[in-house]
Amino acid sequence: MPSLVIDRSNVHYEDLGDARPGVPALVLLHGFPLDGRVWMSVAEQLKSKTRVIVPDLPGFGRSSVSGEFSIESLADDVETIAARLRTGPFVVAGLSMGGYIALALSEHSGSMLRGLILTNTRSSADDEAGKQKRNSMIEIVKARGTPAIVDLMLPNALEPDAAQKKGEVVRQLKSIMLDCPPRTIEMALGAMRDRSDYTEHLSKLTIPVLVVHGSADMIMPVHIAQKMAERARNGTFAPIPNAGHISTMEQPDAVADVIGNFLLTRIGASS
Ligand code: MLT
Repeated sequence: MPSLVIDRSNVHYEDLGDARPGVPALVLLHGFPLDGRVWMSVAEQLKSKTRVIVPDLPGFGRSSVSGEFSIESLADDVETIAARLRTGPFVVAGLSMGGYIALALSEHSGSMLRGLILTNTRSSADDEAGKQKRNSMIEIVKARGTPAIVDLMLPNALEPDAAQKKGEVVRQLKSIMLDCPPRTIEMALGAMRDRSDYTEHLSKLTIPVLVVHGSADMIMPVHIAQKMAERARNGTFAPIPNAGHISTMEQPDAVADVIGNFLLTRIGASS
């Protein structure tokens, strides 16, 4: 897995496929407390259509981090990764926390961003109760480490009957979550707690926006996603049946299909 150094963080990434005329590169951002592996089945299917870059964000997966991060600083890092890898114009897709980062990036990446894909995420900021929950999770991870956070998050991460139907996905997801360092979890919780509300921004965006969302998401209900797609001027809504919050691992074929179709019909056609 190649890597590059950004601000003293060593960022690992996968770089698959080749750029195609008229089809921008695709950058896939993972959620919390995860890493690029949550996107890899989707990336493998999309690499025949364009160049696909899947970073482990600073502090996650195999990437190190120096100092604190925020959602905005992670967005800056993604922009730097795209520039350093010479992607040219690109489309960014973010799963959950990755969606917060993609929204932040869409505020300032100017003409380089050709499209935004919001996957099992939301544009709103945390409310007071949400902020309190982040603070108590910070206390939990400081006291009991990553496994305590995994125990809290795993039961709601996939569709309700995943334990019966998707044993292998549950096992893989648990192992990815357990690999997340406690200090990264602490910083990410603070970064998500303090993030901005991007709802108004979303309604002003003119680039094509695809909202992909597992229909059985227990963390962020699907009606939130439908509203986001309606709010975006140039939005498309793609609910994914038989998937919860981590739709990219639960239904990678369906997610790759809707993204591939979006790239070719909504982005390629307008490039
Ligand atoms: C994620 O999957 O990235 C998290 O559920 C996002 C969040 O906690 O807000």
